Amino acid sequence: KNIVILISGGGSNMAAIVQASQREDWAGRFGARVSLVIANKPAAPGLATARAAGIATAVVEHKAFAAAADPRAAFDAELAAVIDREAPALVLLAGFMRILTPGFVERYAGRLINIHPSLLPAFAGLQTHQRALDAGCQFVGATVHRVTPELDHGPILGQVVVPVLPGDTAEGLAQRVLSQEHRLYPRVVAGLLAEMA
Ligand code: GRF
Repeated sequence: KNIVILISGGGSNMAAIVQASQREDWAGRFGARVSLVIANKPAAPGLATARAAGIATAVVEHKAFAAAADPRAAFDAELAAVIDREAPALVLLAGFMRILTPGFVERYAGRLINIHPSLLPAFAGLQTHQRALDAGCQFVGATVHRVTPELDHGPILGQVVVPVLPGDTAEGLAQRVLSQEHRLYPRVVAGLLAEMA
């Protein structure tokens, strides 16, 4: 089975999934390989990380479609064309900072997964850690969920809870949550693949 991962930036969640798929003791259980990592920005640092791990990469630049009649639809169509060559069992969003069209989401229904750095349904969208601190949350976390057309919604597949500590800043909290995301995402994906086997 193939997995395609979409990134926009650092790609540390992508790297965690690649690592899990390549680990000797996981390989049998993981049951899939990351066949392609796609970024919407040519400068995404995660591209080099993927290549260093022996994973093929592609760039589908959203900016290239700015002049199209419907830029989002044109970008999504090209993205889908590149993804479909892999015939992936799963398409994973990992720090992919583009909102996808309903048509794209429907095309990958049941196969499209995202990770979001909050305990959904609280704090969809951006600045999740600052908003959680401002609200006085004592616990934050991350959520892996199925992607539906509505941003950061969709059935929850797994969550991790992280306590807020005295003096926490949004940056510090983001780092602590991110290190837990790296454990959560591969675990949830492995579970999904086992169900699909
Ligand atoms: C993660 O916190 C992810 O949940 C969010 O953006 C961050 C991406 O980090 N959507 P990375 O690119 O996986 O390092």
